[in-house]
Amino acid sequence: MGAKMKLALAVLCVATLYVRVAQAGDPVWKKFYSNFGDWKVKYPGDADTTGQVVELQLDQSTGSGFRSKYSYLYGRLGMRIKLPAGNSAGVVTSFYLASRYVKWCELDFEFLGNWTHEPVLLQTNVFSEGVGNREQRVSLWFDPSEDYHFYGVVWNQDIIKFLIDDTVIRVFKNTANLGVPYLDYQPMYMYFSLWEADDWATCGGTRKVDWSAAPFSAFYTDFETDGCEVHLDYPNLNSCYDLLYISDYGNYTNTHLSEKEINDLKTVQYNYLTYDYCTDVDRYPTVPPECASNWPQYYSGQ
Ligand SMILES: *[C@@H]1O[C@H](CO)[C@@H](O)[C@H](O)[C@H]1NC(C)=O
Ligand SMILES: *[C@@H]1O[C@H](CO)[C@@H](O)[C@H](O)[C@H]1NC(C)=O
Repeated sequence: MGAKMKLALAVLCVATLYVRVAQAGDPVWKKFYSNFGDWKVKYPGDADTTGQVVELQLDQSTGSGFRSKYSYLYGRLGMRIKLPAGNSAGVVTSFYLASRYVKWCELDFEFLGNWTHEPVLLQTNVFSEGVGNREQRVSLWFDPSEDYHFYGVVWNQDIIKFLIDDTVIRVFKNTANLGVPYLDYQPMYMYFSLWEADDWATCGGTRKVDWSAAPFSAFYTDFETDGCEVHLDYPNLNSCYDLLYISDYGNYTNTHLSEKEINDLKTVQYNYLTYDYCTDVDRYPTVPPECASNWPQYYSGQ
């Protein structure tokens, strides 16, 4: 069988798994469903946007959330979010990916609210085979409640890039050669939620939720699920591995860091990073093995 033929067959075999970015006009609920605080999950907007924007609300009775029906192995996965406006101290808005295996994988985006005009922090984390404790926090350089911004990951066999719009703010490279398990065999579901965490989220838990400002609202739209969509908990993933080599998210641009992306990482590292597990020597007297390869400049020469 010729290489072309093999490729054609591979493409055919994965056709049922392979799903591109949701078409404009697709209702969100084709791929997602609410899973927490049902009655606080809303679909606002006029005829043009109904079904394409999800509003999560939080009040003293409950937070709310929704999730994807299917899981994904690799891909460009994310959406645009507008965070709660005004005083959002103690309020956490989240987007995360998680698998359901016993030693699970997880990628987190947690937005830690703040008093009006005080910086909202984005905390990210990476769990591989059930081990996390890889928190990083960046202070956002714009008001995330004013406009929608894209937040998401590009995930392939070599690297996971965490993105805010076109800016890479964090990477997690495949460092299996250093003994760090990589996220390469567990499909992950997408989760979205808004909840109260004023015991830790803002200024170490000293700024509490102002319930007189409730309900708090976060808006999610423009979901991107260009990845290998998986419909079983323990699937045969060969078609996902094949797909990687003909997909955009597995191409050279996405498996490597460009000059611009390296510069963006340095800018984030020098100007916006407020916490990094890699430099927390009280917690990690020995720098975790993946750290050196994940920051382009900071650790070089150490
Ligand atoms: C909230 O604002 C204070 C004061 O600017 C800042 O120290 C803190 O890092 C900000 N964010 C959070 C989530 O605590
Ligand atoms: C890879 O895919 C991206 C889209 O994610 C595209 O912009 C880029 O041009 C592609 N690069 C290559 C080398 O094909």
